[in-house]
Amino acid sequence: MINVRGLNKHFGNFQALKDVNLNVEKGDIYGFIGHNGAGKSTTISILTGLAKADSGTCIVNGKDACKTVNPSDLGIGYLPEDPSFYKWMTARETLIYLLESSGKKNNPVKINEILEWVGLEESAGRKVGGFSRGMKQRLGIGAALINDPQLLFLDEPSSALDPEGRGDVLRLIKDLRDMGKTVFFSTHILSDVERICNKVGILVNGRIVKEDRLEVIQEENILPIYDIETDIALKNNIVEDIEKLKCVKKVQTFDKRIQVLTESHECGKELYRFFSDKDLNVVSFNLRKNDLEDIFLEEVNKK
Ligand SMILES: Nc1ncnc2c1ncn2[C@@H]1O[C@H](COP(=O)(O)OP(=O)(O)O)[C@@H](O)[C@H]1O
Ligand SMILES: [Mg+2]
Repeated sequence: MINVRGLNKHFGNFQALKDVNLNVEKGDIYGFIGHNGAGKSTTISILTGLAKADSGTCIVNGKDACKTVNPSDLGIGYLPEDPSFYKWMTARETLIYLLESSGKKNNPVKINEILEWVGLEESAGRKVGGFSRGMKQRLGIGAALINDPQLLFLDEPSSALDPEGRGDVLRLIKDLRDMGKTVFFSTHILSDVERICNKVGILVNGRIVKEDRLEVIQEENILPIYDIETDIALKNNIVEDIEKLKCVKKVQTFDKRIQVLTESHECGKELYRFFSDKDLNVVSFNLRKNDLEDIFLEEVNKK
């Protein structure tokens, strides 16, 4: 549904996107991850036909969005990062207005369906100017669906919301998946990605540093991390000895607690032996897998 090859974009002397490649298949819920300023919105504005690329091919729904296209020819839905609506229109009027401005007739059944789906049926007659962020975001997702697109671009749909509002947005994205839609959404909230995405692209300073199925990225990176707490803070020479163990990749100390990133699942036994040989009192010894946040930070720090 989306295939991007060699996409470049600069603003003045600043290279915002560097040779970006992306691949999104039908039915994917694609999480486009990156820090603020990584280039997510720039990428999305090019793929939605709103901004021009310097070079590259960006096949979106069979058309090349890197060349000049009329955004409405792409047959996509788009929720901008900061959606703006006419404050004086009600939610219902907003959806009718958007439907009619795309050349279609008002369709009350469809408008009601969308209002109900996004949970705004009771607020349908209220002016959008008085809506909370979460309500605006839900209206925006409904608005992105007004022309029945198969592919939707959502730019940070959940980032500015409280946990409840985020939960609502994530549920709507899951519904979109169940409707068979393809969703490309950007975020810097990695737990949201872990909850709903099947594919992930990580953008660091305008470059894609990793792109794969979420489960593949998780599989590749599930190195065990041991959180170990002792009754007294460990001396530096002890920490150095732990670092020297063959199966240990990295040790971080936090007063009486240390975090040991290891190379294999066998390392637990070795660590345990180390602590008992040195006669150190272990208060707690916990294994956890590194999550998307750890993986992301590792990719960012490589650069
Ligand atoms: N119109 C513009 N003119 C100049 N610089 C821009 C413009 N749009 C974005 N940038 C710069 O490009 C980089 C990427 O921005 P953006 O795509 O908005 O990042 P993100 O959405 O990941 O936070 C930022 O450094 C930003 O300042
Ligand atoms: Mg952005």
